[in-house]
Amino acid sequence: MIDATGHGVGVAAVTALEARGHQGPARVVIQGFGAVGRAVARFLEARGHVVVGVADVEGTISADRLPVAALVAATDEFGRIERSGLPQGVTLSAGADAWLDVDADLLVLAAQKHALTAENTHRLRCGVVVEGANLASSGAAKEKAAGAGVTLVPGVIANIGGAASAALAVTRVVPFGLAADARKAWVFDWVGDRVRQNTVDLLEIAAGRAGDPLPELLAARRADRR
Ligand SMILES: NC(=O)c1ccc[n+]([C@@H]2O[C@H](COP(=O)([O-])OP(=O)(O)OC[C@H]3O[C@@H](n4cnc5c(N)ncnc54)[C@H](O)[C@@H]3O)[C@@H](O)[C@H]2O)c1
Repeated sequence: MIDATGHGVGVAAVTALEARGHQGPARVVIQGFGAVGRAVARFLEARGHVVVGVADVEGTISADRLPVAALVAATDEFGRIERSGLPQGVTLSAGADAWLDVDADLLVLAAQKHALTAENTHRLRCGVVVEGANLASSGAAKEKAAGAGVTLVPGVIANIGGAASAALAVTRVVPFGLAADARKAWVFDWVGDRVRQNTVDLLEIAAGRAGDPLPELLAARRADRR
């Protein structure tokens, strides 16, 4: 379902910000402005957060506040943002990782595999990273981020929305008797509830010990099912 992934990634982001005690609007950078990145941007802006940077394959656009609707309108089907009509006062950076240089509280990785690596993780300026793309951070990057006190929510927790909504439809768990809008809301609630709980539990495990918290969470979920 369109936007279900971005919805879940947005829920993971606000849950992680809350877990860190972040209060008030967060400054957000979104790397990748495709289906996932645009949905996350809308989700977070609608909840009062401020998008200060977005990146597509051609570089990074930043400002104190980027107008999400205008950026979405300037973006083509491949997630490329047309630069010519952008509002005045935005900064354009062509460097491959320039999204790392924008001062922010939250970074959403919604472009490609291994955007964050052992080589560039030291440049992180935010306290929270959420993976919208699969394997958006390498294993070494995750270790470095944890060592630097950064909260990182992996894609396997945050970006389940699309896969989950397809599975819910195929297995006919979705209440098909509902009207389209209500059905969409039902699926979004289902995704949001799981992502929120999994994020809270993952971060609780991470706070209690060193190392990757994911295996312990997955083991706990398997035990719950027995
Ligand atoms: N769409 C989904 O429901 C879904 C679900 C789970 C995971 N994912 C994964 O999330 C990622 C994004 O998915 P999508 O559907 O939004 O893709 P998309 O193709 O619609 O958009 C990708 C975006 O990333 C940008 N991009 C590509 N390479 C980049 C780079 N090196 N630096 C900066 N920006 C770059 C593109 O310009 C575009 O804006 C993909 O890796 C995809 O496999 C998607």
